[in-house]
Amino acid sequence: MGKLFIVLLSFAFVLVGILYRDSLQIYFNNFIQNSKNFSQGKSIYTPEQLSKFNGVSGNRMYLAILGTIFDVSKGIKHYGDGSPYNYFVGKDGSRAFTTGDFKDESTNKDHILDLTCDELLVLLNWKKTMKEKYRYVGKVIGRYFDHNGKETEYMNQFNDRIDLCKQQKEKAKQEEQKYPPCNISWSAEEGTTVWCTKSSGGITRSWTGVPRQLYTPGKDKPHCVCVNITNNSQAALFKEYDNCSSTSTLCHIRD
Ligand code: HEM
Repeated sequence: MGKLFIVLLSFAFVLVGILYRDSLQIYFNNFIQNSKNFSQGKSIYTPEQLSKFNGVSGNRMYLAILGTIFDVSKGIKHYGDGSPYNYFVGKDGSRAFTTGDFKDESTNKDHILDLTCDELLVLLNWKKTMKEKYRYVGKVIGRYFDHNGKETEYMNQFNDRIDLCKQQKEKAKQEEQKYPPCNISWSAEEGTTVWCTKSSGGITRSWTGVPRQLYTPGKDKPHCVCVNITNNSQAALFKEYDNCSSTSTLCHIRD
């Protein structure tokens, strides 16, 4: 009886092996690849190794963002075959996290240093989301990490840009407290109307201010800010609206 059971069990194993040969082979390959990386104590992948984790035929799905690899297999509804975000799987497609260009297979698909501060911060936020939601796997050799997993010069430049962007954002926030945005409305009869209140721009304050045009570097059009003219040495630097009294808290702009 015991012998028969062992024979049947062996037969069942062989049958499962034959039936699921392809899947077992894939899992085995994934396992060997991961073991190799881990045995080197590095969890560092070449782009070719990363490309194997593409979800095809039951493979796990890895994606890299800014050189860091995450296992997104549990997000199959986002990253599975047929989903637009399937683009990200098996590669570092950092650039598309801000451009939305899910066809970019060029060598520039992980190049991001030419992007704007807003875009870089969006990208960093995506990395944070990945970190919170998915399992960290390792690093991919390329723009961001070298063969030893050490940060590259490109990564240093990215970190420097991010520091600058955060400083700029902080400065803009402080400026916004000093010169809050105006309320704005539009109608066919009156055109655009801008006006200040003690809470316009979502900034609560003790003064109302008057609408003025503020020109910002890099923007082709001025935007409306509320300026406290009674107690502000910089007030004269802002442009007044045409046909609007310099002390009025509301101005109509004919478009
Ligand atoms: C630059 C363009 C875009 C990028 C890079 C992007 C990227 C992504 C990624 C990576 C995910 C999966 C997030 C995860 O793993 O949890 C996602 C989810 C999603 N995206 Fe986008 N997306 C873009 C534009 C859009 C647009 C325009 C829409 C709407 C029309 C949209 C709607 C959604 C929705 C509904 C989800 C699922 C959210 C959830 O179930 O938690 N996305 N997006």
